[in-house]
Amino acid sequence: MTAVIDVDTQIAQGVSLIEAGRTVEALEVFQDILKSDTGNVQALGWSGVGAFLQGDNERAISFLQNAHALAPEDFQILANLGKACMAAGQVAAAHSSFQKAYEISSNDAEVCYYLGYITEHAGDAVGAETLYRQALKINPADRQIHLQLSNVLHLQGRQREALRVLRIAEARFPDDRDITFVRGQLASNSVPGWHLPMLADQARNDAYERAIIAKVQPGDIVLDIGTGSGLLAMMAIRAGAAHVYACEADEILADLAREIVERNGFQNQITILPKHSTSLVIGEDMPRRADLLVTEIFDRAVIGEGVLPTMNHAWQNLLDKKARVIPEGATLFGALTQAPHLQRFHHIETINGFDLSPMTVLAHPLTYRDAQIDFSKSDQCHILSEPFAVRAFDFQVAPDLAFRTENSVRISESGEADSILMWFDLQLAPGVVFSTHNTLEHQHWRQATQILLDRVDCQSGQSVDISSAYNGYFDFSIGV
Ligand SMILES: C[S@@+](CC[C@H](N)C(=O)[O-])C[C@H]1O[C@@H](n2cnc3c(N)ncnc32)[C@H](O)[C@@H]1O
Repeated sequence: MTAVIDVDTQIAQGVSLIEAGRTVEALEVFQDILKSDTGNVQALGWSGVGAFLQGDNERAISFLQNAHALAPEDFQILANLGKACMAAGQVAAAHSSFQKAYEISSNDAEVCYYLGYITEHAGDAVGAETLYRQALKINPADRQIHLQLSNVLHLQGRQREALRVLRIAEARFPDDRDITFVRGQLASNSVPGWHLPMLADQARNDAYERAIIAKVQPGDIVLDIGTGSGLLAMMAIRAGAAHVYACEADEILADLAREIVERNGFQNQITILPKHSTSLVIGEDMPRRADLLVTEIFDRAVIGEGVLPTMNHAWQNLLDKKARVIPEGATLFGALTQAPHLQRFHHIETINGFDLSPMTVLAHPLTYRDAQIDFSKSDQCHILSEPFAVRAFDFQVAPDLAFRTENSVRISESGEADSILMWFDLQLAPGVVFSTHNTLEHQHWRQATQILLDRVDCQSGQSVDISSAYNGYFDFSIGV
């Protein structure tokens, strides 16, 4: 004799089978119930779930639509119907189901998440953000919601907030490769890639640390302009400074610097200010003017990252009259060169039979190039002149923003000068000089090279007059 079991027990058995992944048997149990009770909402709803788990979306939709018709206020049936419709590619029907489910119960993380997902894919990133945030509040343990929230922030151009969401997610799910990958991808797309080779430039780091040790005095209030990772600020504390105010214009980097400073236990001695230095206000961002400035905001032609206006502003607004500065000065050197290799990048004409000359606009002639040329290879670049000082900068006073210098330069090798090669020395502290001359192997800075507007024939032994003007860009002219 077969034991008669009630419907509730049968439903419970079916659900256990579903949970165990035994969907075929589960569906048989629910079918059995439906044979004698065609309107059993639970059996219909769970049949829908079973069919969905088997990948039979059409059948799932049919079960769930029947269940919904009988229990229109059951948000779980609507949510499952929405999922089945979404899997079947019926986006409008899915949206309508999730919307109805949400109106019945906005306290369900899954409903908020899926409605957010559909809203995001309909192009409404703001609406999706609200729904994901709501979902996350209800269920912060769902890693997918963190990922989707970061994605809609990214779509809105709010990279810093997206990265913050991912950082929290990474702390919560440290082994989740998707989160680590997306965070890395977003961070590396937001922050210039040269930060890593720069930090790996041990000669640069050591030269700065020697200068910091030489110049920090106990009790100093230090201003670090352009702190990046916070490295120089931490060196200053290690050298005995009382407090470092470290500003960084890139807010994403500033967040990383804060994380690094905390990780190294300096959060009480280093204040990270996510601002450009020219926005800092004494009394608000710093209690008083600084005793020491440390900064490394130098590109390969030394002044291209804005050190002149930055220093000028700092002397007027942020530094004590007697402040010490690192570096104390810099000298930019130049030499006339013949670099046929570079011409190929600067004058785009016919390529594979097509006239591509409008692309030449990308090679603005008054900007220096980042091309990484090995200047020791004579087929790439010939140095035609003795070196000359384009300009010596004294950072111990407010520097001029524009300048013009004249040099008489001896030609050491005959050729057609078409470019100027530049490199620099940083006078970091007395006896601590860092140079980018001949540094191709192990240092991240390369020399800069700028194409001349007019090529000039030069003969070995002659002298040429080179005037160098700077007014936001370098303008070189050569008189033979
Ligand atoms: C070359 S990195 C050096 C980073 C760090 N100081 C180091 O030495 O490792 C310069 C950084 O300064 C920032 N920066 C440049 N000028 C700035 C300014 N005036 N105010 C704040 N940040 C600035 C840039 O965003 C960049 O992250």
